[in-house]
Amino acid sequence: MNGGGGSLVVSGGTVVDSAWQGAADIHVVDGTIVSVTAPKSVEPDPEAAIIDATGLLVLPGGVDPHCHVGFTSGEFTSLDSYAECTKAALFGGTTTIIDFAIPRPGQRPIDAARGQRAKAAQGLCDSALHACVVEWDDSTADELRSLADDGIRTVKMFTTYRGETMANEDTILKTMHVLGQVGGLVVIHCESNHIIEDAQERADAEGGVAADQMAVTRPELAETSSVAEILAIAESQGTGVYFVHQSTPAAVELVAAARARGMAAFTESVAHHLVLDDSCYQGADPERFVCCPPLRPQNTVRALGAHLFTGEITTIGSDHCCYDLTQKRAHRHDVRQMPNGLPGVETRLPVIFSRYVIEQGLPLTRFVELTAANPARTNGLYPRKGSLMPGADADIVLWDPAAQWTVHAADLHMATDYTPYEGMALTGRPMVVVVGGRVLVRDGELLDSAPRGRHLRAQPIDLPSIRRQ
Ligand code: URP
Ligand code: ZN
Ligand code: ZN
Repeated sequence: MNGGGGSLVVSGGTVVDSAWQGAADIHVVDGTIVSVTAPKSVEPDPEAAIIDATGLLVLPGGVDPHCHVGFTSGEFTSLDSYAECTKAALFGGTTTIIDFAIPRPGQRPIDAARGQRAKAAQGLCDSALHACVVEWDDSTADELRSLADDGIRTVKMFTTYRGETMANEDTILKTMHVLGQVGGLVVIHCESNHIIEDAQERADAEGGVAADQMAVTRPELAETSSVAEILAIAESQGTGVYFVHQSTPAAVELVAAARARGMAAFTESVAHHLVLDDSCYQGADPERFVCCPPLRPQNTVRALGAHLFTGEITTIGSDHCCYDLTQKRAHRHDVRQMPNGLPGVETRLPVIFSRYVIEQGLPLTRFVELTAANPARTNGLYPRKGSLMPGADADIVLWDPAAQWTVHAADLHMATDYTPYEGMALTGRPMVVVVGGRVLVRDGELLDSAPRGRHLRAQPIDLPSIRRQ
């Protein structure tokens, strides 16, 4: 965000960046961080606004690498605009979102990207985009190069959702090849569609495919088998690959083994797979939890979460999809027709902070690495986003690590009427959110709703630097 209202000093807090933490003051001029200094060691500009961060953590604004805004899939479109999604993001401590330009049937990827990119200006914070390729043709290579020239270097692909967005192996291989030449990266949803369709058919014959069957119809094997295949394709092309929403430790371990033998392969996990488990499908309104991959058993969730500590998970996203209960319930008896995905852009940071930093001792620097720095690195946005280094955009979150609160959909800002975390008691939340040097949120109030969002151009992605993390 440009020209964030002159000078600002955030003083007296504990600054946490991905590589260090300590008491420090942050000085901001015209929307950019200009220095980080020992507390009170530099006389502030007399004109500067001072924010007292005593007792608070001072974090780089979160970067959500996986956020669907106004996303159409099948007969459903998720309900938020850029203004609504970014407002909710800010209330949750996220100041950059990365959305997807998924082409509608017959639409060119570049047209989908241009259409979605035009919406960035409605945002309250900055955003970037993943393009998407479904089918390869004679124009695709040139289109990918044009997209990269325009700063869109990540391309979402799917090995599932036949007839919608599923791409075949040839298309995936060719897309990886071209992106490898332009500093880009395939970001891929891996679930073997044939295994899923077979499991769905069997469930249908044996007793039905209502939401309580969600986990059975998308087995872990579907995810791991697809990850193994896609790793082999990336290895054959000598390119990087980023796996979205990995939900099983087995899938994460395949990627970690590939990284250990030199591949630039990365794992994203998303908050709901790290916090919720498949018992949700046996309770009331199981369709509230229908997402792909599905929620996994408690032991799987525990083992997945352990990988946050080992460095084997690179990023944490939300996979935010803002459907409401009416949409989720429309086909409650058939998981093949339900809208998949959960609202989560606002709850991503609080649930991970509470469950992992407070309850399990995840280091604060690692929290920042997973939720801000690495999402920015894997998307060619670092260190402008995801860091508090001089030169970075002044997107800063003052976080109260001791605030206790209970999640209720009615108190959240997402354009839906439910949250999968309803009634969950959490510790820690953002108190002040600064975007481009302007204070936009303070103590639960939105102070400025002017749309100043910019579409961020991704730089060529520095794969070796991410691999060293
Ligand atoms: O269930 C999900 N994840 N829905 C959103 C689309 C996708 O697969 O990311
Ligand atoms: Zn997906
Ligand atoms: Zn998604």
